[in-house]
Amino acid sequence: MTQTPFIGKLAIFLSFFTCISCLTSATAPDTVLRFRSDSPTFKIVLFADLHFGEDAWTDWGPLQDDNSSRVMSTVLDLENPDLVVYLGDVITANNIPTANASLYWDQAISPTKARGIPWASVFGNHDDAPFSWPIDWFSATGIPPHRCRDDATSCSGLKEECEFRGTQRLDLMKNEVKNSKLSQSRNGPKHLWPSVSNYFVQISPFFDDCQSPVMNLYFLDSGGGSYPEVISTAQVEWFRHTAQQINPNSSIPEIVFWHIPSGAYEEVAPSFTEKPCVGSINMEKVAAQQAEFGIMSLLQQRPSVKAVFVGHNHGLDWCCPHSPHNTTNKLWLCFARHSGYGGYGNWARGARIIQITHQPFSLKSWIRMEDAQLHSPITFTSSILETQS
Ligand SMILES: *[C@@H]1O[C@H](CO)[C@@H](O)[C@H](O)[C@H]1NC(C)=O
Ligand SMILES: *[C@@H]1O[C@H](CO)[C@@H](O)[C@H](O)[C@H]1NC(C)=O
Ligand SMILES: *[C@@H]1O[C@H](CO)[C@@H](O)[C@H](O)[C@H]1NC(C)=O
Ligand SMILES: *[C@@H]1O[C@H](CO)[C@@H](O)[C@H](O)[C@H]1NC(C)=O
Repeated sequence: MTQTPFIGKLAIFLSFFTCISCLTSATAPDTVLRFRSDSPTFKIVLFADLHFGEDAWTDWGPLQDDNSSRVMSTVLDLENPDLVVYLGDVITANNIPTANASLYWDQAISPTKARGIPWASVFGNHDDAPFSWPIDWFSATGIPPHRCRDDATSCSGLKEECEFRGTQRLDLMKNEVKNSKLSQSRNGPKHLWPSVSNYFVQISPFFDDCQSPVMNLYFLDSGGGSYPEVISTAQVEWFRHTAQQINPNSSIPEIVFWHIPSGAYEEVAPSFTEKPCVGSINMEKVAAQQAEFGIMSLLQQRPSVKAVFVGHNHGLDWCCPHSPHNTTNKLWLCFARHSGYGGYGNWARGARIIQITHQPFSLKSWIRMEDAQLHSPITFTSSILETQS
């Protein structure tokens, strides 16, 4: 048995006290990440549409995954990020059991985990089983009412999974979070299940608990697989409530991640060739969500929201302003870059990088290719018109 020395106890007591004194509002952050002590910047790498486990039974299926791992390793070693975001379609799991899906998921995470880099993930339409619930289960909020099999003894607590037959979302996420402390992902609020990857992460300055975060990152589950391809009314309300609690006066800049582009992306797509849009490929039509329940107008109304980042379309990698002709609207809509050898399309693989600078604040992005080339740099300034490309 070991005794904690008095000084140690004092330190523990004081740090506990310091934490309490700095808790500002009712909502403690889900997770806090920090700038490194020696760095004025915080860098995020987005890996989109890796599709691990696709055609695992063929010769080339596993070779694709090796290739995708190589892409990730190359980008991680070149960029040395502080956080990786897995932007959905991490695996192709529409027809495999949960245990197998988790194995592929772990493989996709592995290059990041091996380097000790934290990550956060959202679900895409391929991470989950196909839709298997009757559509009339869905209420106006977009969340199906809880149902249990007749033989289930209890619906509360221990038996929570009984409500979610037909989806792997919850099990996949629980497995990811359980397997590593580096995972910043969360199961999301229960009242939104089976829409699971809904949570936020705050980026704070290097150890200064009393200073407000430099940036808030929000992650939303845009459905697909066992769930309609939408961001539901209930999710919009969760976002509104959360943002109000953690950033009441919109003083902290915010960025948002989900997998399937919203209809707003379709509307801005034709202006891709015009400045200030920035990108290198525009090879297909935007494959948008099925419906819009208000997330875009909410984001547009929050001056702190700088940009939305999505994947899903492998042949698109641009950023465009949400409202190019409205100079008071500063919201940007961005695609990531197809990072996986799995999934359709043979466009060269790469990853979108996001860099946050503190004091003074700035937000930049670029695309880093597998062959180390860098292109499509963009600075998200406070005014669309000042944007340089
Ligand atoms: C793996 O990557 C190499 C190099 O880009 C490519 O030539 C090969 O076709 C890829 N194989 C598969 C199965 O994707
Ligand atoms: C799932 O994994 C098990 C054990 O590794 C394997 O035997 C089985 O073939 C896999 N099933 C599918 C559908 O991939
Ligand atoms: C915004 O709110 C934060 C904390 O809630 C506070 O510290 C800050 O001074 C406020 N800023 C403005 C401009 O009101
Ligand atoms: C311009 O953008 C601002 C901020 O998003 C919004 O409040 C305003 O309604 C927009 N104006 C027009 C004409 O759409």
